[in-house]
Amino acid sequence: MSRGRYIALEGIEGAGKSTIQDYLAEALRSGGHEVVTVREPGGTSTGEGVRRLLLDGDDMGPWTEALLFAAQRAQLAQEVIEPALDRGAWVIGDRSVYSSLAYQGGGRELGIDKVRDVNRAGLGSTWPDLVIVLVVDPQAGLARQDGEDRIGGQGVEFQRRVAGFYEELARAEPERVAMVDAGGTRSDVAERIVNLVRNRW
Ligand code: TYD
Repeated sequence: MSRGRYIALEGIEGAGKSTIQDYLAEALRSGGHEVVTVREPGGTSTGEGVRRLLLDGDDMGPWTEALLFAAQRAQLAQEVIEPALDRGAWVIGDRSVYSSLAYQGGGRELGIDKVRDVNRAGLGSTWPDLVIVLVVDPQAGLARQDGEDRIGGQGVEFQRRVAGFYEELARAEPERVAMVDAGGTRSDVAERIVNLVRNRW
């Protein structure tokens, strides 16, 4: 059995990642793959506890935030993603380490390289093979958010800055990071993404 593939859906708030995740999972399942979907922060019992601290807890310093994101991710990689890839399953993540690079490395100004290093320490060989950034207008995305959390509540300027860091990541790693327009109906967007994935593999 060959190793599975790990696809991460990324983007600022309100880009529609979770709907797209469902579509893509269905498309890959109908192509005969085992598909595991995960979300971050969370996805394990420890990770869901860390999620509450991160999103609903008190304010915290930027490195505390970055390390808690990295901690929940290390647990998810060890408990869920790595075993799934080992048995040949495809994993689709609603967010990934690339959220930490854009939000903590860029948005919170910790530095993309430093945030990458701390995450790598906990992830080993579990790194997304393909990162799809759904591109939405920051104002429209915020208006579409279902309820704001500690990070989603940072305002439109912060979203705009984070969007700029996603662009920078795509320029730096064009083979791995693709930007996809999230405009149009959900099924239009889903079709664009399914095509992108089919063309890749
Ligand atoms: P999520 O629950 O995916 O919310 P949304 O539905 O808005 O995408 O993510 C919660 C928030 O956490 C979101 O504002 C992005 C932020 N986040 C980071 O800042 N760094 C990270 O590494 C991750 C995974 C999320």
